[in-house]
Amino acid sequence: MKHFLDIDDIEDVGALVLEATKLKAHPYAHQTLGRHRTLGLFFFNASLRTRLSTQKAAKNLGMEVMVMNFSKDGWSLEFEEGAVMNGTSAEHIKEAAAVLSQYCDIIGVRAFGELQDREKDESEYILKNFGQHASVPVISLEGATAHPLQALADALTIAEHKRTDRPKVVLSWAPHPRALPHAVPNSFVKMMKRQEVELLITHPEGYELNKSITEGVSVIYDQNEALENADFVYVKNWSSYNDYGQILSKDPNWMTTQQKLSLTNHAYFMHCLPVRRNVVVEDAVLDSRASLTTQQAENRIYAAQAALKTLLQHGS
Ligand code: CP
Repeated sequence: MKHFLDIDDIEDVGALVLEATKLKAHPYAHQTLGRHRTLGLFFFNASLRTRLSTQKAAKNLGMEVMVMNFSKDGWSLEFEEGAVMNGTSAEHIKEAAAVLSQYCDIIGVRAFGELQDREKDESEYILKNFGQHASVPVISLEGATAHPLQALADALTIAEHKRTDRPKVVLSWAPHPRALPHAVPNSFVKMMKRQEVELLITHPEGYELNKSITEGVSVIYDQNEALENADFVYVKNWSSYNDYGQILSKDPNWMTTQQKLSLTNHAYFMHCLPVRRNVVVEDAVLDSRASLTTQQAENRIYAAQAALKTLLQHGS
């Protein structure tokens, strides 16, 4: 694995989940692996969990960590090849990535899409340019189309809590006041397609995700029907993919409630956080023992640690 930008970059998902499990049991077992190695974390967007869990993961491996809020503290970057830089951009990604590679042994980048231009977002031009121009491995801290560290933590959480060999996992759309990106559901679907689970997606019509990602996965527009006998309900809002970035519905009937969970097989509730209480999910669910959101957030440490360990050992 040269870079870790997507679930597709993982060769053996089972082995990586197992690695995360082992690291959770023995977080300091590889404390010298990262000695004299530095992780740089560069954020173009806000973060709580990714920022702190990845720092903790790096420190568990003995790494030094540098964190920079790029959109606030960095020079405005130019990404276009051959650009005449007489506008607002002060520094080209070619210099920025090359220089950061002198300071860091691994570079982490968070860069959301803008949900205006689907082609531009899908090009993942920020992460891909870092990957192209850095001479060290680059890890995604969430891009426009993928959040692989979240999906790895989610797979670990499901592995820890499953009560059958092949649990039923339902990805359910939820209402939200703002237009949100597709990175979390995309990576969750990709990850679940590589797990021993029965995956089903439910959302209102018009909220179909990228078909190349959901190919082979059943979609049911009736949420109640989808939830029947579910073992895990993974809830997330996303904006329309076909009507790119648009909010087509805010229907409160899609909020996850105790009553809805009563249709399931005593399902666990999952969400990547942050979550809007009583819009996406009601208090009673989040505050119940069915909610795995804190466990998911804890597992972000070991997902990041497994990914960083792999890059330290095999990245080039
Ligand atoms: N789930 C997640 O990535 O959280 P943050 O946006 O707070 O990092």
